[in-house]
Amino acid sequence: MNNLTDTFGRKHSYLRISLTDNCNFRCIYCMPEENIHCLPSKEQLQADEIFEISKIFVDYGVNKIRLTGGEPLVRHDFATIVEKISQLPVQIALTTNGVLLDKYESVLKDTNVLTINVSLDSLNPEIFFKLTKRDAFHKVWRNLLTFIENGFHIKLNVVVMKGINEIEVNDFVNLTMKYPIEVRFIEFMPFDGNHWNKKNVVSMSEMLSSIAEKHRFNKIQDQVFDTTKKYKLEGAKGTFAFITTVSQPFCEGCNRMRLTSDGKMKNCLFGKEEFDLLGAYRNKQDIKPLIEKCIYKKHEKVGGQLNQLKEFDPDQLNNRSMIKIGG
Ligand code: GTP
Ligand code: 5AD
Ligand code: SF4
Repeated sequence: MNNLTDTFGRKHSYLRISLTDNCNFRCIYCMPEENIHCLPSKEQLQADEIFEISKIFVDYGVNKIRLTGGEPLVRHDFATIVEKISQLPVQIALTTNGVLLDKYESVLKDTNVLTINVSLDSLNPEIFFKLTKRDAFHKVWRNLLTFIENGFHIKLNVVVMKGINEIEVNDFVNLTMKYPIEVRFIEFMPFDGNHWNKKNVVSMSEMLSSIAEKHRFNKIQDQVFDTTKKYKLEGAKGTFAFITTVSQPFCEGCNRMRLTSDGKMKNCLFGKEEFDLLGAYRNKQDIKPLIEKCIYKKHEKVGGQLNQLKEFDPDQLNNRSMIKIGG
């Protein structure tokens, strides 16, 4: 079958599937403060639907599937889902807040999910609580150390927010001396309900200046489809990197497609248009024309224009909250 190549020549081989819009944390950058309503479970992708739809994407040449959420590990059938997908010839990846990892260590090993992206925004339990509204720092930290020790490759996702955790950038960088992890500082991005304002974004250049005051480091070559710009301290076991969606967008190398937990396909994290794959699948229609249309309609850049925004503008962005998209 044809590769999913868009009108700008970008080949799409990476699918991110959100397993749920539910989460056991309440991160302030991810969801609206008011009570969130989660999807009734019948309306979310079921395990067999995830498998059948993934199979179609694999036929199109997809070679990497990332499971995200919400928090994917709160799905009671997470093990079934990952076991099913592991029958397909794809690399499986996981993004999680880390608090339930201990429950799934053997399932993840058995299904070869050995690279795990864990969100950890602070090394200080009080700041961790301020950001996530959960008193879970110690549990996440314990899980991380166990997973590192047991040979998993860990990428730490740190969303950096002005006046909250920006003072910890060097503490995170110091971790790379001791542990073979990849710390990734993510610029705070605008989504529905997260009160984004450019003033609260800490850019890569600001972070690099404060790191340079304390450390000597080198640039590492990035891969074509990386969202990150990578660096390494001299003598370090791990690396640190930046995801610069706001200050230096990277849309030209984008190979990603997304499926929300209610089965809508998005061609961009910031794209307004959604294509109802699950609806079509449940009506026994062929979903391939929808997938192809979704890719055909992908814009050159949407997230790539965020540097022109000063505050969240619902008319321009008209997008869901992060927890409803799935990262
Ligand atoms: P790798 O597959 O390891 O490269 O991970 P990833 O960075 O794609 O995934 P992860 O779920 O860890 O996301 C880290 C951050 O990158 C989150 O803030 C995501 O929203 C952001 N991100 C992921 N994909 C895209 C994308 O296509 N565009 C933009 N602008 N940001 C993205
Ligand atoms: N800006 C940047 N990153 C975000 N994430 C969630 N919301 C935002 C935001 N507003 C990150 C989480 C998780 C990843 C999937 O997306 O920290 O690691
Ligand atoms: Fe949950 Fe992840 Fe969103 Fe935090 S960023 S609320 S852990 S889905």
